[in-house]
Amino acid sequence: MKIAIACDHGGLDLKRAAVDYLHTHGYEVVDFGTNEACSCDYPDFALPAAEAIANGTCDRGVVICGTGIGVSIAANKVKGIRCAHCHDTYSAKYTRLHNDANMLAFGQRVIGEGLMLEILETFLTTGFEGGRHQKRIDKITAIENKYFK
Ligand code: RB5
Repeated sequence: MKIAIACDHGGLDLKRAAVDYLHTHGYEVVDFGTNEACSCDYPDFALPAAEAIANGTCDRGVVICGTGIGVSIAANKVKGIRCAHCHDTYSAKYTRLHNDANMLAFGQRVIGEGLMLEILETFLTTGFEGGRHQKRIDKITAIENKYFK
């Protein structure tokens, strides 16, 4: 599985930990930056990561900023992206089972590395349940088709 990952300066340490975890567990990683500690703008990094999921270059994505909120909002502006801002494993499990989320957002100023890695593992190893949930995803897609170019 190929994972797109990106962060701003507020998420750099967690991103490094996530990249290490992904490599260790056999995932292919495409890193869209930032790799600098200096202040930057999270949409500049969340956008190419989200585009990589939307265009099929990568299978899943992880975006990290200080809160996880800015990167999730930015990623969710890309058609086809369902980016879940999760700071617990229950949400990570059910956003895969029910929402077929294709991206995960973390806030480095909110959670620690250990919990982040457990959430990431849950997200990457849980499948979509389909069934009644597909109809709901289709309704989200219909909203995108109504409002996106
Ligand atoms: C950067 O200071 C911070 O605003 C950013 O990382 C993120 O938390 C925005 O949502």
